[in-house]
Amino acid sequence: MPGRKPLLEIVGLRTQFFLHEGVVTALDGIDFTVYEKESVGIVGETGCGKSMTAFSILRLVPGPGKITAGNIFFMEPQDVRQRRMQLEIEAQEWYRRSSLVEKKKLVALYDYRDTGRKKKAKKLTPAQIDKIVPPDRVPTGVTRYYLAQNAKTMPASDKVGRAAALFSFDLLTRTDDQMRSIRGKSISMIFQDPATALDPVFTVAYQLGEVISLHQGIYDRAVLDKKIEEVLKLVRIAAPVNVMKQYPHELSGGMKQRVMIALALSCSPSLLIADEPTTALDVTIQAQILNLLRDLMRTTGSSMMLITHNLGVVAEVCDRICVMYAGRIVEEAETFELFANPRHPYTAGLLAAFPKLGERKDELSVIRGTVPNLMRPFQGCAFVERCEKATEVCGEDMPRRVEISPGHFVSCHLWTGKEGPNVR
Ligand SMILES: Nc1ncnc2c1ncn2[C@@H]1O[C@H](COP(=O)(O)OP(=O)(O)O)[C@@H](O)[C@H]1O
Ligand code: SF4
Ligand SMILES: [Mg+2]
Repeated sequence: MPGRKPLLEIVGLRTQFFLHEGVVTALDGIDFTVYEKESVGIVGETGCGKSMTAFSILRLVPGPGKITAGNIFFMEPQDVRQRRMQLEIEAQEWYRRSSLVEKKKLVALYDYRDTGRKKKAKKLTPAQIDKIVPPDRVPTGVTRYYLAQNAKTMPASDKVGRAAALFSFDLLTRTDDQMRSIRGKSISMIFQDPATALDPVFTVAYQLGEVISLHQGIYDRAVLDKKIEEVLKLVRIAAPVNVMKQYPHELSGGMKQRVMIALALSCSPSLLIADEPTTALDVTIQAQILNLLRDLMRTTGSSMMLITHNLGVVAEVCDRICVMYAGRIVEEAETFELFANPRHPYTAGLLAAFPKLGERKDELSVIRGTVPNLMRPFQGCAFVERCEKATEVCGEDMPRRVEISPGHFVSCHLWTGKEGPNVR
């Protein structure tokens, strides 16, 4: 998206759970960007990794889960981003030129953090190495090694310290203290069930006041009360002074969700992550909350990541949509484009299962089968067992992500042919 500034850029993010029974790969190398002042929808069936994406961004993945690869660049200045991308290309070329012995050394050094696999590098064949570190997708560890190796020949302004600083906008390199300050202040989250996120023993004013004091350093009671009243008005609570004195159990579901949104917006975050924010509410209240979120994003200039299993919700609110399946983003496009031209069979299936206004259908189609077990490593496309268009290659090779029209990305073998789309 030329001309638009990326706010959050996720590259090759992998999050895994290390259980006795095996390793669950909840996120398997996801890439996406949220630009300034836009709303991005993340959709997919339950269990496909939507919430883990949010928890990974906030570095709140519950144990025994761990982020094992990738980067989460947040609020990276444009010049730093450009230099980083340039360095990544240089590192890629340098890696491609390296000898097999050198590559093995690098894979042994950096494989673990970037792939979650521990392997004796000496025994690897070139093909196995290319699978671990795809030559067109050199992981950050290798880029950092390249920077360290070449520090001497770099201009003084770009020595290791500076070069390392290029990666410091990666949330994964932040300390726990820094993350605590980012959460709530720069990135805040609204959860599915407001009842669990609000503390039942404190009033609305107390809970909002605590967050505002912590992040904005306001302790004067009168100033704080004014501020609390303002945020409650912002989320269209009609009698803010009364609501301030109430406890969560005295509020309706819709009101609680408004208070949650007020909590999340009280420090004017750059990014709001809303995880199924309306699922627990009834349909009319859902519509009100969605309208509220859409209007708030416009007036505050924040960006939003809206997570939902409901395509109707993202259609209403989001500028762009990422469709997730089994821990990967399988299709990404602007909302209108995605609804008009779904290219991944899974997206097409989700849309067919979605009722359209003015269309009478006795039975909505459903996608046959269920989401696969994420403990099993996939050799090919994870959707293969449910896909009506699957061919032999689908079970063998993981489809690459290709841009089939500007801003429209899809990972499916139907679209990875050399001469363009294989099948219409
Ligand atoms: N505590 C956990 N232990 C093991 N696996 C987990 C845990 N939490 C989540 N997962 C795995 O991560 C996958 C994605 O979960 P989640 O992001 O919550 O899905 P969604 O929000 O899309 O419904 C799940 O299918 C599951 O396999
Ligand atoms: S890669 Fe093959 S199995 Fe996967 S969605 Fe495309 S056609 Fe279906
Ligand atoms: Mg979820």
